[in-house]
Amino acid sequence: MRRPLWIKHAAQLVTVGGSKGPRTGADMSELGLIEDGSVWIEDGEIKAVGTTSELEARFGEWEEEADVYEATGRLVTPGLIDPHTHFVYGGSREKEFEMRLEGASYMDIMNAGGGIHATTRMTREATEEELYRQAELRLNSFLRHGVTTVEGKSGYGMELETELKQLGVMKQLNEQHPVDVVSTFMGAHAVPQEFKGREDEFVGLIIDEMIPAVAAEKLAVFNDVFCEVGVYTPEQSRRILEAGKRHGLKPKIHADEIEPYGGAELAAEVGAISAEHLLKASDKGIRRMAEAGVIACLLPATALYLREEAARGREMIDAGVPVTISTDCNPGSSPTTSMPLVMNLACIAMRMTPAEALVAATINAACAIGVQDKAGSIEPGKQADLVIWNVRNYQELQYLFGVNHVHAVWKKGRKVV
Ligand code: NIG
Ligand code: FE
Repeated sequence: MRRPLWIKHAAQLVTVGGSKGPRTGADMSELGLIEDGSVWIEDGEIKAVGTTSELEARFGEWEEEADVYEATGRLVTPGLIDPHTHFVYGGSREKEFEMRLEGASYMDIMNAGGGIHATTRMTREATEEELYRQAELRLNSFLRHGVTTVEGKSGYGMELETELKQLGVMKQLNEQHPVDVVSTFMGAHAVPQEFKGREDEFVGLIIDEMIPAVAAEKLAVFNDVFCEVGVYTPEQSRRILEAGKRHGLKPKIHADEIEPYGGAELAAEVGAISAEHLLKASDKGIRRMAEAGVIACLLPATALYLREEAARGREMIDAGVPVTISTDCNPGSSPTTSMPLVMNLACIAMRMTPAEALVAATINAACAIGVQDKAGSIEPGKQADLVIWNVRNYQELQYLFGVNHVHAVWKKGRKVV
């Protein structure tokens, strides 16, 4: 048995405890704050949470047996969760960044064979070991930014072999790296160049060949599709998502990112766990998502990087949509691993409050990838995934922006940063 761990005297302990499902409306501001907070951890699991004096009364006599960590003067939060990334890929696309600054659009570059197609070529060429090494470095960076659970998508293969290679790397990293990785199959990330003009044929391949193979090998929990003008139509997206459901893969959808296309409405219709991006989601789509309880996964770093107006986060929360936020870490539209930056941007660009940004990046993110029973909050029975920050309170975390305030990180009770 490992020695117990006692983190004590946190200036502020943000627990975000007490919810079974995603938080909406005013509940998105409920942080479950404890001043002078303490957490008692045994075998990687949270056993007790309270003020330091409460825990001294309960565990004081075992103090000698425990590893004690003083968080005096600092903020403690749950490990952050990134519910939407494309972190396993080959190569890099800094040239496209320059091209976009000179005026080329994201879709123009993709339609000319760059963008997702360029990364697909580089990912097909990379060996599994190369992909693993690159992705491992990105997970290390996530961890240093306080992120202890990450969702990852395939979709830079768009042929069975490479899709399985990407998902295989995620599976290995989940087993070998401290960060928990939750996998999503995204064969419908673009229409591969060799299928140009034969889109429906490729949709058929995804439905008849790829989804059954991925599900049979239990390599993914979710099934995602890029529903966008010039990529997959809402009708094709629906077929792909329904096929995934028949094989036990829960639907997610990249919706209304570049143009309004009914993606938010489709997310509600197919019962998607979340809809992503939503920069151009319609009022009706937002209403439908609120009614159906679809989580809006908003990506303000992507909007900034594409120099677009951010999604209507404030309005979505006010309309009762559960909101989460994510880096969208990928080599084209958001090459970052910084969830703290994303929280800052959620406040600045979407007028979310500091408390809402933290709820969005913890318990709501956990719900968006189905890990809320073990992560996303500091409460008894959950994994001891915790971050100590070099700030005194949660407002300061969002106020001092663009800076990495991480002081220390625990994953399942082990100190990893
Ligand atoms: O979520 N929108 C589609 N897919 C990614 C971008 C992938 C890339 O550019 O490589 C996204 O932004
Ligand atoms: Fe994405």
